[in-house]
Amino acid sequence: MKILITAELPFEIEKYLKDYELDYNKGDQLSPKELKKRAKDADGIISMLSDKIDKELIDSCENLKIVANYAVGYNNIDVQAASERGVAVCNTPDVLTQSTAELGFSLMMAAARRISESEKFTRAKKFKGWKPDLFLGMDLHGKTLCIFGFGRIGQAVAKMASGFNMNILYNSRSEKTQAELLTGAKKVSFEDMIRKSDFVIITAPATPETKHKFTMQTFRQMKSSAVLVNIGRGEIVKESDLVVALQNNVIFSAGLDVYEFEPKIDEGLFKLDNVVLAPHIGSGSFATRDAMAKLCCDSVIKVFKGETPHNLVS
Ligand code: NAP
Ligand code: GLV
Ligand code: GLV
Repeated sequence: MKILITAELPFEIEKYLKDYELDYNKGDQLSPKELKKRAKDADGIISMLSDKIDKELIDSCENLKIVANYAVGYNNIDVQAASERGVAVCNTPDVLTQSTAELGFSLMMAAARRISESEKFTRAKKFKGWKPDLFLGMDLHGKTLCIFGFGRIGQAVAKMASGFNMNILYNSRSEKTQAELLTGAKKVSFEDMIRKSDFVIITAPATPETKHKFTMQTFRQMKSSAVLVNIGRGEIVKESDLVVALQNNVIFSAGLDVYEFEPKIDEGLFKLDNVVLAPHIGSGSFATRDAMAKLCCDSVIKVFKGETPHNLVS
């Protein structure tokens, strides 16, 4: 059995998968052409969220049984095309929930308290002494946090927020009774969520329904003191509109881990002080990236053995 691993992982994968033939790409990201060529005779692929696993690629594979995505989001994979060809698709749920929520919370605090901006100021040796009005920002305690996409990560954010004494609202397709009991969160309509929130955090997946859910029209309905954080997927926010909203102080600030046209980032964002920019590192802790790699390997092994992994999405 041959496994294509499309990027170097912070994990001893060659040791863990020693019983299999590996095509391990330790170089730059594979181009679509190279990916197609190397996937052709693979029995399994461990893919990254930056690899496009589309119908054309899936159809051109001769032996493919499983695609294990090194991410919980799988909008880079045509799951329907895979299902039609009997190819299993797995992701990495649960193991990255807390780490990603922690990054989201860090961005929320950084954007509220202007950490990036004031850090730049301090490094530039501009700090000449304590001042009552230096870099004033927004409090979290007592404020309303709205969570768009109240799944595993959204609910983990809610637990953290309840420790900060925040009021929690959420918008999801279904009601989450248990999480409501645990965190005091309440389900509201999208419009209510937008109008009432001091903080909005996006923890939804990229789907046709969530694409461009946040545009200038949305920002105009938000409080001018509101902070927006996106750790879901870039395309949920119309990035060019967010730039204009931040330029004109339509909202207070933003914290972003994901971008609409990744890895490209709207030039306008680089010029702004009221945005914190992270390079898609939500799950990026040593322990979590290790657990994600192990889960991908275990998923491949299970499918090769004819078993059904718990993290099957196809
Ligand atoms: P999850 O448990 O499936 O949660 C996703 C939630 O989004 C679900 O509660 C779902 O609602 C909700 N949702 C889906 N479509 C919606 C819509 N149209 N309107 C409102 N809510 C909607 O997934 P997760 O593990 O929390 O991960 C969520 C996403 O985070 C991933 O898909 C990925 O894009 C992103 N992510 C980013 C990073 C990063 O590095 N920044 C890391 C990990 C994950 P229902 O439950 O009602 O269906
Ligand atoms: C990261 O973005 C993931 O979906 O795991
Ligand atoms: C600030 O450093 C304070 O003591 O209030």
